[in-house]
Amino acid sequence: MLYQKLKEKIEAHQSIIGIMGLGYVGLPLGLSFCEEKYHVVGFDIDAEKVQKLMAKQSYIAHIPSKWIGDMVQSGYFKATTDFAQLANVDIIIICVPTPLGFHHEPDMSYIESASHKIRPYLKKGQLVILESTSYPGTTDEVTKPILEQSGLKTPQDFFLAFSPEREDPGNKEFTTRKIPKVVGANDPESRDLAVSIFSKILKAIPVSNSKTAEAVKITENIFRCINIALVNELKMIYQKMGIDVWEVIEAAKTKPFGFMPFYPGPGLGGHCIPIDPFYLTWKAKEFGYPTRFIELAGEINTDMPRYVLHRLMEEFNLRKQSLNGSKVLMIGVAYKRDVDDFRESPAFPLYELLIGAKAQVDYYDPFVLEVPQAHETGSMIGKKSIAWDLKKFAEYDVIVIVTDHTKLDYQGLVQSAKLVLDTRNGTRNVVGDCRKKITFA
Ligand SMILES: NC(=O)c1ccc[n+]([C@@H]2O[C@H](COP(=O)([O-])OP(=O)(O)OC[C@H]3O[C@@H](n4cnc5c(N)ncnc54)[C@H](O)[C@@H]3O)[C@@H](O)[C@H]2O)c1
Repeated sequence: MLYQKLKEKIEAHQSIIGIMGLGYVGLPLGLSFCEEKYHVVGFDIDAEKVQKLMAKQSYIAHIPSKWIGDMVQSGYFKATTDFAQLANVDIIIICVPTPLGFHHEPDMSYIESASHKIRPYLKKGQLVILESTSYPGTTDEVTKPILEQSGLKTPQDFFLAFSPEREDPGNKEFTTRKIPKVVGANDPESRDLAVSIFSKILKAIPVSNSKTAEAVKITENIFRCINIALVNELKMIYQKMGIDVWEVIEAAKTKPFGFMPFYPGPGLGGHCIPIDPFYLTWKAKEFGYPTRFIELAGEINTDMPRYVLHRLMEEFNLRKQSLNGSKVLMIGVAYKRDVDDFRESPAFPLYELLIGAKAQVDYYDPFVLEVPQAHETGSMIGKKSIAWDLKKFAEYDVIVIVTDHTKLDYQGLVQSAKLVLDTRNGTRNVVGDCRKKITFA
């Protein structure tokens, strides 16, 4: 009966969707439902974000204000900090952060707090979907018990599912709606309802239960983390052997099967790949299993900024220069190209290492004009991007490419630089004699 009612509402586009957390994941997801003429209420604890969204302004570089403006204007999207409005929605999708705690343990406080905020307004027939990345067992062991403190039980009274997010911010080829979405629930009705709603905006892939869906997401990110570590290790070896790792990857990926390209860099960044694998490491301890691959990959990836520093010292040594007192310009603070997301960016540990070696460091990043206060930003807090000025760039002893934003004039940059240390192969299209100034890390 409850199932049938919600199913009919979904099919008639009359179910109201609540999104908890209007960040990189929740915002585009909510707007995608609005495009299909579902009314969406976005909930966030950050009043400033809510205010901006209601003023039709984006606060995320790759999400256009026009998209938000159109959806607010059409009446399909609204954002609020008033959680009492949860009582008016039919479906609640939780998209809150899942960071790591101080000792690399999962920080479940956001999921717990979101679940506690839902509990007083939970009503019969609602569907709650957890979307935040977490270890297998989270939906059953964290979300469900908190929601059931309401006195309602799943699946008799309310429906519960887990559907991981695969968003790749800034990826123009695979936007929210082009990425298939895995959906797991412990009972067929919850699963079918979650599949039904997601099917309205993308291809939904059902799996047998919540913990399988949770494991799918963690597996995908572990796969990425380990392969990036592998290619980072190969980069260091090939560098010594005088082999260009990027040329190797380009050629290797012509193999039509059995090889998938991953690219080296100055270290891992972003809200997912450096963090999520350690959610499994933590959970695996409960079962007495070590996660050696994950730990090793973490070790290699975390050490990459130190490798970049080491390569810089090697190059300076060849030139009878010292880092002490030298002027260093870092290109890029964002964790990957063309986004303004700097969470866990390797630019921050690299900056600390350079400062520790007594270098004077500036940065240029058109997406991160100023480094705000955040746990990872350390002594870079408050530092501002310098302007793009090739004449000024010529004054630096070295320019280190940390993020290969696409629209930069790399040809001009290399021409005016004294020395370029490229960690991303951002200079791949630079031609002419000035290429001699480029070295890699
Ligand atoms: N960013 C990505 O590329 C990406 C990709 C795949 C999966 N994920 C996962 O998706 C989840 C969300 O990530 P994100 O990047 O969107 O995070 P985010 O920090 O960009 O957004 C989260 C939002 O949740 C809000 N919030 C925090 N607590 C809340 C609460 N109790 N109620 C309502 N709102 C609350 C925050 O103010 C913030 O606006 C995480 O688990 C992350 O691992 C992220």
